[in-house]
Amino acid sequence: MDHRALPKAELHLHVEGALEPELAFALARRNGLTLPWADPAELLRLYQFRDLQSFLDLYYQVMGVLRTGADFFDLARAYLDRAAGDGVRHAELFFDPQAHWSRGVAPREVVAGLTDALDDARQRHGLSGGLILCFLRDLGPGAAAEIWGAVQPLVGDLLGVGLDSAEVGPIEAFAPVFAQARQRGLRLVAHAGEEAPPHDIWQALDSLGVERVDHGLRALEDDALVERLVRDQVPLTVCPLSNVRLQAVAALERHPLAAMLARGLAVTVNSDDPAYFGGYIGDNFEAASAALGLSDEAVLRLCRHSLEAAFVSPQRRAELLAELTAVASSDG
Ligand code: ADE
Ligand code: ZN
Repeated sequence: MDHRALPKAELHLHVEGALEPELAFALARRNGLTLPWADPAELLRLYQFRDLQSFLDLYYQVMGVLRTGADFFDLARAYLDRAAGDGVRHAELFFDPQAHWSRGVAPREVVAGLTDALDDARQRHGLSGGLILCFLRDLGPGAAAEIWGAVQPLVGDLLGVGLDSAEVGPIEAFAPVFAQARQRGLRLVAHAGEEAPPHDIWQALDSLGVERVDHGLRALEDDALVERLVRDQVPLTVCPLSNVRLQAVAALERHPLAAMLARGLAVTVNSDDPAYFGGYIGDNFEAASAALGLSDEAVLRLCRHSLEAAFVSPQRRAELLAELTAVASSDG
């Protein structure tokens, strides 16, 4: 089965993580900045990570070339074109406004560039999508409240809020800002259980009230948690190549994705930071299917889960599910 032809949603994609070395160098030139590496090839050679933190250190450094609305537009447009080629019909883009604000780039610039790119993708590819503002967990709840205050005029341009960066400090400390986001009608997600134990996943559900868990990789260590996630069919946005590159799993052949599916979890496949981890969503489907021997039925189920987990209207969901059924049956 050609999984690239199957309609799917990408639900775990950091747009700054789609910044390819070539584009980073082009934007540096455009903005009169000098990167500390000779060329894209030299930067690419550094993409060997021990863990999440070793990746984040480079990720925040490289994204320093993003300065204007046009930079964010070009970045998101390049990602959305790639995604459309992988069968993505709906994409929810995470972005980290605190990381840009600290360099003097206003959230308004960031959101304007990304929104224009989503409008452009809707026109050129029929792709739907939205923006999810991520709070940086390692900067703590005070800094989250500060950026939340700064983006109040932009809330209408957002689909939701999330939580990312290093898994340090109590996740439940973000409950007040998540409650405010919910009151403003935003959808809620959070990274949890990527490297840290299942406790964070419980807290993401019970204290933050998230509707999806990003990664959730370590859920399988806790039977009661698995039972809860299966009972409520809480979507988990799993990113196989990311987990290998950040050494959360020892090898793709040992990735728990197949076991998660077998337990009845609502798992989806996503790319996380495709420019850093060796592949976009299509590459993730391809590599995971080959390494884990996933059946066509399992691949279809992953695509269906993504459409069911997407923050879309009932009409859009019905349209996308019908497209999936049509493509799957024509594929034999
Ligand atoms: N920010 C970008 N990618 C991330 C990841 N995989 N985990 C946490 N924060 C991130
Ligand atoms: Zn992520």
